[in-house]
Amino acid sequence: MEDFKKCTDAAFCNRLLGARDEGYYIDPASVKVFGPAVNAKLLNKATGADFTLTLKAYKGFVRLLVDEDASRKRFEVPGVLMHDLESREGSWVMKAQTSESWQLRCGDAELQLRYSPLQIDISIKGQPVMSFNSRQMFNFEHKRQKQEGDPEGWWEETFKGHTDSKPRGPEGISFDLAFPGMQHVYGLPEHATTLSLKPTVDLADNITSEPYRLYNLDVFEYVADSPFGLYGSIPFLWAQKLGFTVGAFWLNAAEMFVDVGKTDAATFTNWVAESGILDLFLLLGPTPAKVSEQYAQITGTTALPQYFSLGYHQCRWNYRDEADVRQVDANFDKFDIPYDVIWLDIEHTDGKRYFTWDKNLFPDPVKLQEDVASHGRKVVTIIDPHIKRDPGYNIYQEAEQNHYFVRDKDGKDFDGWCWPGSSSYLDMLNPEVRSWWAQQFSLSKYKGSTPNLYVWNDMNEPSVFNGPEITMPKDNLHWGEVEHRNLHNLNGALFHQATAQGLVERGKAVFGSDGDRPFVLSRAFFAGTQRIGPIWTGDNSADWDHLRVSLPMIMSVGIAGLPFNGADVGGFFGNPDAELITRWNQVATFYPFFRGHAHLDTKRREPWLFGEDATRRIREAIRARYVLLPYIYTLFRHANTTGLPIMRPLWYEFPEVEATHGIDDEFLLGPALLVAPVLDAGAESRAVYLPGTGPWYSAKTGEVATPDSSGALSVPVTMDDVPSFLRGGHILPLRERARRSTAAAKHDPYTLLVALDSNGQAAGELYLDDGSSFAFQRGLYAHRLFTFKDGLLSSQELPGTPSRYSTDVAIERIVVVGLRQPASSFSVTEVGSVKVLQAGAGPVVLAEGVPESALVIRKPELPIAGDWSIRLAVTA
Ligand code: NOJ
Repeated sequence: MEDFKKCTDAAFCNRLLGARDEGYYIDPASVKVFGPAVNAKLLNKATGADFTLTLKAYKGFVRLLVDEDASRKRFEVPGVLMHDLESREGSWVMKAQTSESWQLRCGDAELQLRYSPLQIDISIKGQPVMSFNSRQMFNFEHKRQKQEGDPEGWWEETFKGHTDSKPRGPEGISFDLAFPGMQHVYGLPEHATTLSLKPTVDLADNITSEPYRLYNLDVFEYVADSPFGLYGSIPFLWAQKLGFTVGAFWLNAAEMFVDVGKTDAATFTNWVAESGILDLFLLLGPTPAKVSEQYAQITGTTALPQYFSLGYHQCRWNYRDEADVRQVDANFDKFDIPYDVIWLDIEHTDGKRYFTWDKNLFPDPVKLQEDVASHGRKVVTIIDPHIKRDPGYNIYQEAEQNHYFVRDKDGKDFDGWCWPGSSSYLDMLNPEVRSWWAQQFSLSKYKGSTPNLYVWNDMNEPSVFNGPEITMPKDNLHWGEVEHRNLHNLNGALFHQATAQGLVERGKAVFGSDGDRPFVLSRAFFAGTQRIGPIWTGDNSADWDHLRVSLPMIMSVGIAGLPFNGADVGGFFGNPDAELITRWNQVATFYPFFRGHAHLDTKRREPWLFGEDATRRIREAIRARYVLLPYIYTLFRHANTTGLPIMRPLWYEFPEVEATHGIDDEFLLGPALLVAPVLDAGAESRAVYLPGTGPWYSAKTGEVATPDSSGALSVPVTMDDVPSFLRGGHILPLRERARRSTAAAKHDPYTLLVALDSNGQAAGELYLDDGSSFAFQRGLYAHRLFTFKDGLLSSQELPGTPSRYSTDVAIERIVVVGLRQPASSFSVTEVGSVKVLQAGAGPVVLAEGVPESALVIRKPELPIAGDWSIRLAVTA
């Protein structure tokens, strides 16, 4: 970890974290309200520096902008905010005005703007929820001329032999934000730590740990509990207390540190960034779902994934050659384990020249992809952002001639060291470079690729082996003479975006106007990455701590608007034993992105290599994933329309249950399935917390789970068990037939699993479309709503759905748990045709239990996308 900076190693953090300045004030005569915006002049008493301050009202959030004037223009992060943001504007209603402050109202929120010192307090329905600058930690380092005697670190700083020339001098910004009455803050990924962020300062402002750092870095062997910055950054923080959930998002892509401090009265946060502007969105909630929606209105929702990409992915650094790939592919069939994608890491290329193939190892990549595709499967190849400086390499040659590379501070193409050796890095800030890059993915340019090939973008922080902190110098120059320091955390997302654009264009060329949804996995990310594609949590290790921390990491990235993510299953470094790899697969059944991956130096670890028992259990875990796919895809549709997370903290669904606020070793998959996986070696039981009144049903047996009065339950476990619970009141759509891939299951019938609430009711949804193209954007989808009430189970189209997707696939099983009478006492008829359906007791879905009360309706042959009702009546 010595390769990486602490706050004290970064001059701006040293200057600004915890620094107080009471001298910032608003000139009362300057305050003006124009519709949604309050504009004012902000000044600093000591320096005389002046700034523009804008406070904008939107429906559900407030935006605070502070900048220098136009003659000292700073970098504003492009491409993250939604184009229709202005359509969300609200308007301020003036409540009161004095010589010291203004009181304004917008919707449920009341805002007080105090002039001197500057302070902004927000309350919702009379409850204070956020306070900006109540501790006078706002600082904005104005532009200045270099002078004799300027403090050290203003115009140059050195770390581990790397000197940052800082030609623009100090440009840092800091502020404090307090959350009155709130004990928990979450988010700010990416860190390997608890979901509820631990304090970094104590009551007396003494540092108790490093602040949370946001700086995209390739951290070798990251530790499982640390506030150090990892591969991606989303400066979005959540805070909550009973009845109120709020958020704060700072749109700034420079290096950032955030301190968290807690008292009985509030949680305090202190944010510092090295450059850029203050563009702070305060999200007013007041529920978790509202905060997600508000954030999605600002930065967008999750791109609807390819259906196949929700299946199991098999990766390794590296599958050696074509024979190896074919063997692995065949073994999945031999061992009866479904999978959808096989991945090729860097060794498949000719000398780490991306878009090429090692001719000896992969002589016929087209044939290989076609063979894999003939089993309904796909291939992913890695395409990294460092370009080998080889004049004989066409990508390098063209980019060099067109001046497409990031330049060093002296204006020469930056030369850094990465996998291929000496490399240059494309300047993706330049839109022309992005569109040129996108073209490289056409089938004619990317030789050896086929429409069944998708892409993996790694090392895009960017990773530079010989650079400061294994990344690019901050004084490197991008398009428009923008210093790298301003956009460092955005760099990877721009690369990811250009790659995804390439696959979109390829899809249109191959399939016509409905195209093909891109699938590009990225390691680096920023706010807005959700609109591009998934990320994974990088190079974890094969140990129990990393298995455990994968849950808060995935949830923290997920609530930061980027739910399509997962951790390397098995752990990237090291060799998991049979127990760990089994448990890891059992957890990953429920990861939004499910990929096994391993380092070059590890032992082979495909699912069948750990003995018969482990193979069987891993097979079951992966199959359980495929059973859940209709439900998971429907969750992704919600992520796509409104921004909801997939893997949810318990508090997300139960904010009113305070005991949930600190839990991160259990989670909910969507609203309906609670999972308390085994995260310890040798476990014989698992302590579970079940929130609310339930009822909760064991997903294994369908029996009602009965916790004690505090919600606690101890579940005995064997190596076969993954304690998971169905939430009463929900209906889950499933597909139970074991198949080799999602493509092979395309025409398979469905199961509906109905878990009744205490009133004997339930509801659920199923989203259906072709699973791969953009045709859904012109209405070619179905979104079914299932309801159960008074013994009547009905299927209808979700109101407002265009209902233009048809399929002849049927429902083959309906399972109802939570009935008050034994299953044998019911008769079932289809309403309308008076058809009598076969019913009886039977197994619940995810395993083998047979509770007396679980009613199973066999082969009702009801259309999955059609309207119907069936009636359950007690006859015996
Ligand atoms: C680093 C990535 O995090 C890892 O997943 C990959 O296998 C190696 N680079 C090699 O490409």
